[in-house]
Amino acid sequence: MASPLRFDGRVVLVTGAGGGLGRAYALAFAERGALVIVNDLGGDFKGIGKGSSAADKVVAEIRRKGGKAVANYDSVEAGEKLVKTALDTFGRIDVVVNNAGILRDRSFSRISDEDWDIIHRVHLRGSFQVTRAAWDHMKKQNYGRILMTSSASGIYGNFGQANYSAAKLGILGLCNTLAIEGRKNNIHCNTIAPNAGSRMTETVLPEDLVEALKPEYVAPLVLWLCHESCEENGGLFEVGAGWIGKLRWERTLGAIVRKRNQPMTPEAVRDNWEKICDFSNASKPQTIQESTGGIVEVLHKVDSEGISPNRTSHAAPAATSGFVGAVGHKLPSFSSSYTELQSIMYALGVGASVKNPKDLKFVYEGSADFSCLPTFGVIVAQKSMMNGGLAEVPGLSFNFAKALHGEQYLELYKPLPRSGELKCEAVIADILDKGSGVVIVMDVYSYSGKELICYNQFSVFVVGSGGFGGKRTSEKLKAAVAVPNRPPDAVLRDATSLNQAALYRLSGDWNPLHIDPDFASVAGFEKPILHGLCTFGFSARHVLQQFADNDVSRFKAIKVRFAKPVYPGQTLQTEMWKEGNRIHFQTKVHETGDVVISNAYVDLVPASGVSTHTPSEGGELQSALVFGEIGRRLKSVGREVVKKANAVFEWHITKGGTVAAKWTIDLKSGSGEVYQGPAKGSADVTIIISDEDFMEVVFGKLDPQKAFFSGRLKARGNIMLSQKLQMILKDYAKL
Ligand code: NAI
Repeated sequence: MASPLRFDGRVVLVTGAGGGLGRAYALAFAERGALVIVNDLGGDFKGIGKGSSAADKVVAEIRRKGGKAVANYDSVEAGEKLVKTALDTFGRIDVVVNNAGILRDRSFSRISDEDWDIIHRVHLRGSFQVTRAAWDHMKKQNYGRILMTSSASGIYGNFGQANYSAAKLGILGLCNTLAIEGRKNNIHCNTIAPNAGSRMTETVLPEDLVEALKPEYVAPLVLWLCHESCEENGGLFEVGAGWIGKLRWERTLGAIVRKRNQPMTPEAVRDNWEKICDFSNASKPQTIQESTGGIVEVLHKVDSEGISPNRTSHAAPAATSGFVGAVGHKLPSFSSSYTELQSIMYALGVGASVKNPKDLKFVYEGSADFSCLPTFGVIVAQKSMMNGGLAEVPGLSFNFAKALHGEQYLELYKPLPRSGELKCEAVIADILDKGSGVVIVMDVYSYSGKELICYNQFSVFVVGSGGFGGKRTSEKLKAAVAVPNRPPDAVLRDATSLNQAALYRLSGDWNPLHIDPDFASVAGFEKPILHGLCTFGFSARHVLQQFADNDVSRFKAIKVRFAKPVYPGQTLQTEMWKEGNRIHFQTKVHETGDVVISNAYVDLVPASGVSTHTPSEGGELQSALVFGEIGRRLKSVGREVVKKANAVFEWHITKGGTVAAKWTIDLKSGSGEVYQGPAKGSADVTIIISDEDFMEVVFGKLDPQKAFFSGRLKARGNIMLSQKLQMILKDYAKL
């Protein structure tokens, strides 16, 4: 059996502990080793009078049983004094149970100001005062547990208790926010709505029920919620008679009652009433972000399903002509230069790590096959999205603060050079009217000299600028594709670090939304969010690792749809499905199960087609022909050569500084074998050489040993074996 829940050394303050529920909590905490402050003002249940005997009796009872407790007789309105008793007596405060309460029941019209105010002062303001007095101590010690006491009256309403139910639900609101603010300091706050027989309920409940609903049936939940091992935070529970249940909010799917280009009317609300109130398929938002984000999402979704279009609308807003005019607009071309430093910084920003030896080539410029991650291609082009880019296009005069990065497509025509300068040309490919917003489709082409290296398509959704009567779809938009309806073939996970966005932004997206808590909160987020393109980089890395052995030359294209924000520190989980050379994927936050990238895919170049996919300025790699020839000749004389060589050679043929193809010459078994790609088992030696130098060696113009010493040929593994190269290449590759 797991160990019992103990509170040894923990200092627990229970307010209103002179009787009823509070007394039961105080006794239970003390019995399990806590040092307890028994607070009670000692008045009657209407809050009239005061005295010390209620608290003293409970303290005496605890001490008789061998526990430790001290009394406090102040009203909870003087919260500082209660906490001072804890600090003066026991030196700290770990747990606050806000329990004290009174009643002033009256039907609504008969509530006096005094009845209203005193209920709020004792319940809501009292909980605030006591908790605030303890808060900074808890923050400093990075630990605290707070319990709030609400009531079914607050949750559901109750005749004659307007003052009480308002205050009791106010307490829940207080708890909701404290749970958010306290989380980072390990301060948890939860609320209960109890049901128990006490002097408070004896006036309303039958006598035998008062007897039966013992406070001892509530106390165990309170102790659990206040224990250090309990992770619950921000929960609301109803409890009584030995039963405990948790509550949450539920929201109908609702209905959009506004039609494009028409005013929103009360009649439209009436006509949709049934749908607005229909709880089938209801959602259960848990955070304010989910709540507000859901509204935008539903709007966008329902709208794109074709509801509420008004195609007959005549006078489109003035912006229409601007939008239409912007299509085809070319942004001023710009150049993006980068060194190995930027490409390494990017790789670290999207989670490449020395923990994974196969990632070394992305983070260490001295690696023989140092490569730029393919998704660095978006970094090269992203300037067109930043200040001076999209925002400067004439006619696109809307609020870019409301812009969301909706989708991204990237296609590579050859691996990105390890460093270089690319010239980028951006054009507004199309503008779509989604009713609830506008989608701007922008194409960016990046060239090295005259050679097209990569193509990006950014889709930006601008909330609230739609309804101008524009078209809804475009053949120019690279389509997102749904993932297959079966369990994924592979799943990879990576925890992002708390500094992930801080690191990623060094690659050039300086939006304060990703680092500045104030900015993020104004934008409606709990804290700064991770860049969508950072998650994109993580996912693409997962696909490359899982299905292409980190071989960048096999990465052809990627398309993603950004679905939800990610917070730094969350774990990204990429679920992948292989369908031929297309790897469908979606990315989830492991902790919440939320899909954050949806309808995504990566297209890979088939393993055998690497060299055909990497055209260079001089056309195909010349070395490919030589390897083909070696393979053919081995068929006749392979056995003899295998005897002499007895080694597996892996070749990395570079072009323009990056690995353009890998080949393996296996001269270890049978009559040998030549194939494209890395060695199937392990290679005895790996040789890295440019396509040009390889040809020089083949033609006898360059001695392999000399090439090694001059640095033109690099070798890893048993480098002595490279001496045998002369024999292989000279004898069997004469063209
Ligand atoms: P109770 O009347 O037995 O206990 C409340 C205690 O709080 C009393 O000992 C009282 O002297 C003390 N108190 C009142 N005003 C105070 C002040 N200003 N400062 C310090 N102490 C003060 O009532 P019971 O039933 O144990 O209630 C405990 C809590 O549970 C209350 O907040 C109540 O509203 C809540 N509650 C109880 C329900 C029940 O079924 N018993 C139902 C829903 C909520």
